[in-house]
Amino acid sequence: MSIIYSEKDRTLTLHTANTTYQMQIGGIGHLKHLYYGRRVDSACMDGLYPPVNYGFSPDYYDFRLERGISPDVLPQEYTGCNTGDFRLATIEVKAESGAYGADFLYESHEIREGKYAVAGMPSAFARGDEAQTLSVILRDPVTGLKLELLYGVYERQDVITRAARLTNEGGERLTLQRVMTLCLDMPAGHWDLLHFHGRHEMERQMERMPLTSGIRTLSTRRGASSHVHNPFVILAAPEATETSGDCFAVMQVYSGSHRTDMEVDSRGMTRVTAGINDELFAWQLAPGETFHTPEAILAFTHEGIGSLSRRYHRFILGNIIRSQYAFMQRPVLINNWEATYFDFNSEKIVGIARQAAALGMDMMVLDDGWFGGRVKDDNAGLGDWVVNEQKLGGTLNDLIDRVHALGLRFGLWIEPEMVNEDSDLYRAHPDWAYTLPGRKPAMGRNQLVLDLSRAEVVDYLTESLTRLLREHPIDYIKWDMNRNISDVYSHGCAPERQGEILHRYMLGLYTLLERITTAFPDVLFEGCAGGGGRFDAGMMAYFPQIWCSDDTDAVERLTIQHGTSFGYPISTVGAHVSACPNHQTGRTVPLWTRAIVAMNGTFGYELDPSKLTDAERDEIREQIACFKRHRDLIAGGDYYRLNDPQHNDFGAWQYAASDGSEALLGFVQPRVRTNAAPICLRLCGLDGQATYRVDDFRVSCHKDTVWNRRVNDMTGATFTGAQLMYAGLALPRLLGDCPALLLHFVRV
Ligand code: DGJ
Repeated sequence: MSIIYSEKDRTLTLHTANTTYQMQIGGIGHLKHLYYGRRVDSACMDGLYPPVNYGFSPDYYDFRLERGISPDVLPQEYTGCNTGDFRLATIEVKAESGAYGADFLYESHEIREGKYAVAGMPSAFARGDEAQTLSVILRDPVTGLKLELLYGVYERQDVITRAARLTNEGGERLTLQRVMTLCLDMPAGHWDLLHFHGRHEMERQMERMPLTSGIRTLSTRRGASSHVHNPFVILAAPEATETSGDCFAVMQVYSGSHRTDMEVDSRGMTRVTAGINDELFAWQLAPGETFHTPEAILAFTHEGIGSLSRRYHRFILGNIIRSQYAFMQRPVLINNWEATYFDFNSEKIVGIARQAAALGMDMMVLDDGWFGGRVKDDNAGLGDWVVNEQKLGGTLNDLIDRVHALGLRFGLWIEPEMVNEDSDLYRAHPDWAYTLPGRKPAMGRNQLVLDLSRAEVVDYLTESLTRLLREHPIDYIKWDMNRNISDVYSHGCAPERQGEILHRYMLGLYTLLERITTAFPDVLFEGCAGGGGRFDAGMMAYFPQIWCSDDTDAVERLTIQHGTSFGYPISTVGAHVSACPNHQTGRTVPLWTRAIVAMNGTFGYELDPSKLTDAERDEIREQIACFKRHRDLIAGGDYYRLNDPQHNDFGAWQYAASDGSEALLGFVQPRVRTNAAPICLRLCGLDGQATYRVDDFRVSCHKDTVWNRRVNDMTGATFTGAQLMYAGLALPRLLGDCPALLLHFVRV
């Protein structure tokens, strides 16, 4: 049993293989959080919170004489509103009288087999009996507001999910001004925060910092999970490393405006709240209506941050991604964006495809510019999902047939959520775009965002995309989103409901994605939002891979992909080899280095093959063969970060088969130094007793400038697993601009 109720202690305990989560129904009926951490069997942890009378922490009315039982001190599963708990609140609710208030008291609970679902939004799923659900019902006696707290317990995966539902069972309309997914109170102690911030072309840069007194908010109000703050945080004990120490994480399964707050209160206790961003948010809850929060995924481990990441990787692959491609090999694709931008026709695309086929690639992806009035730039056409045959010089089906005839699959770019003023759609329905009455809207890439909170807009997009996919044998779709949402105002919504628009946009988008991905299960979908501006678990429910960043420079990608790997599996990370000098940074990096970095992801190309030299063509043929040889290990192996490329001269990472039979090591050194000690890497996840042989050795460097000698080819070298893990592997000295290594080890 993963979920246990103890009548004696009034505790509800959730066990996963290695963790325990415990809560207790308090004397008055509040649901107290007692513990989340390493597994503890058969114990009640309420002794962690002895009653203490803290000055200026108000007492519950019923305990006004005893003193020391205060809402401001008790660890809570979900807070009330305006109750005397002065820490972060999970809910802000206003009654018709104008009174802000809610105080939730336990009513009942139920333990169910299987996993709850979240209405209208993606959430983790369970196969067979791999999950149990705990539902706890609480109620605010004054407003009649019912709160259902939901816990999904995945014992084998060592993961707990949470979500909340609020139902107005009272007689008057309530306004929810804030509804978080969860509150997680941790006892006194110090935590470091690891978070993933960035900007366009520099997503998910990992920052580690101690949490100190006060509130730290990580949020976005952009209508997308954003390039700026990923909806994923890790709290780690200060001494925790990649390989040891306590750490836990909260990942939101949500792709819209979100926030995560961490408060270290005046007593040194840490509270985490996470959920929908409440800026511009106000949800009208009429009697009988229910509001569902998005889901969050929690995991804890005492075995270090790397172990926590691997837990999330496995969970996303096994319990979030619905696509049949989750565990399937992905095609090595070539995308024409950086090869042609808008300057293409069918002949040019077939020319690229022909060369790609000769190099061993599997798929040709036609990017932006094939539809409506989208001819030479990005100022027109969005919204009109009809083929521009004049520009292509033929029909789309002719083009697809020609690509298929080369033995390649065919992929297509779309950006359904947007509209250009210069489009037939906008001319017919200007009110379908977000604009504020009487004001000129802020423009992003000269486009507006369609109001997906309106059912007719979602229906229009469903029909357009269904027609596109029915009438053309398309194998892959890249679903882009190239601006954030400003001017949040729906022309189809009542004034008092305008505070619901940003979240209703997400509900509309999820409906659209649900319809299209279930109607076309054989299509491989790749998400994108100006690169990695919507790289989150909500999107992964529909998109098994997401374009990680518009910055294709291998050096920049090192830190972007490093940060991304903390929460998300490598097979979700869209990564391509592009031309040099790189179009974003102007940097020149050896071709093999670019390939080694792109192999730390889905792997593909984004360049004009007609500009390659014969030598480069040969290299690319070898790279593709190399990737295909190792791709199952890359996508399915356990991932280890061997160092932090943000704060070091090099980046190093490794995959190991879970049975220890093979391992692949990647190494890239953007900064080469003279007279330095050899770089020695300790590998992970090997069989200590076994012997390993290097059976694939790739080096990317100016070979003849290494002390006038070639780099020693390590192919055939043998090491014991213990030697590689405990003593480490001393790397050959590499010189030149951004050298790199790729080593494959097999157990002999
Ligand atoms: C942004 C994407 O991230 C790029 O890869 C490309 O598809 C462009 N949009 C096309 O407009």
